[in-house]
Amino acid sequence: AGGRRIFSGIQPTGVPHLGNYLGALENWVALQNQYPSVLYSIVDLHSITQPQDPTQLRSNILDMAASLLACGIDPERAILFQQSKVSEHAELSWILGCLTSMPRLRHLPQWKMKSKQKNEGSVGLYTYPVLQAADILLYKSTHVPVGEDQVQHLELAQDLARIFNHHYGDLFPGPCALLSSTRKVKSLRDPSAKMSKSDPQTMATITITDSPDDIALKVRRAVTDFTSEVTFDPETRPGVSNLVTIHAAMAMISVEEAVSQARGLDTGAYKKLVTEAVIQRLTPIREEIERLRSDRAHLERVLAQGNSRARELASPVLREVRQRVGF
Ligand code: ADP
Ligand code: NA
Repeated sequence: AGGRRIFSGIQPTGVPHLGNYLGALENWVALQNQYPSVLYSIVDLHSITQPQDPTQLRSNILDMAASLLACGIDPERAILFQQSKVSEHAELSWILGCLTSMPRLRHLPQWKMKSKQKNEGSVGLYTYPVLQAADILLYKSTHVPVGEDQVQHLELAQDLARIFNHHYGDLFPGPCALLSSTRKVKSLRDPSAKMSKSDPQTMATITITDSPDDIALKVRRAVTDFTSEVTFDPETRPGVSNLVTIHAAMAMISVEEAVSQARGLDTGAYKKLVTEAVIQRLTPIREEIERLRSDRAHLERVLAQGNSRARELASPVLREVRQRVGF
């Protein structure tokens, strides 16, 4: 039953923030209803390219599983699984790595950025995009939801599909990018930067388990500018525009509608409206995450089931790969 298959992954960074939710997860939920075959992976092999504490990592994996379920990922419609439990990922990654030249990786953005930050990086960080390609190709995925920052990594997966097919005969479809909305959520403290989990300022990021009080405080402290009227102009007024983006997304209205609801309000009063919209949308998600967190056995069961469904798809593909390679 060939056809369209989606693969996407998210690192187990604990509870997602509003940027992850609006930039990725909301779209994942929509896609599980549109595509016949969908896999979402908690990519823990990727997360150990940076130092991790084992206890923390284990709890982050379960927190991410709880968050994905609470955001609406339905294990009946999407295979939700933990990457490291399907060892075929690592094996295919090795084989693809042997088809990848060093210079091809050196210019990819993530390596350039992260290795520069630390002045060096591990082999794992360097070959991270090869593992990503393996994640995608292992399921013969045809469509991959990605943010703009990941386009070059997907191009590597496309190249590796071509290179493998050329060497060993047609096996992998070339996966295409499904560019998720260009909706970018900015840092509440520095609207020139994106909202990111690596931001050390806690006031800059709203996580989807923040309490109503946390949300109110963070929105109240959000950096705006000296104009009190609310307009949408991300270039000249990034702070206010970020609030409009958040408001519109959370209330599920257009940006125009959000601006029109702000008419007559100064930014201080508008922040209350934004706060309300965020609280209203996140409260059921937060409550569901809390409920799921208290039922660890259930989370482990959901993942175990997803892991075995993923393995069922992965193992015949890898068997074919091995045979083609000559093993
Ligand atoms: P972070 O930047 O916090 O490290 P990741 O890089 O792990 O987040 O991103 C996970 C997913 O969330 C990706 O699909 C990414 O495009 C999306 N994403 C992350 N931050 C934002 C943001 N500020 N706005 C929109 N989408 C985002
Ligand atoms: Na990132």
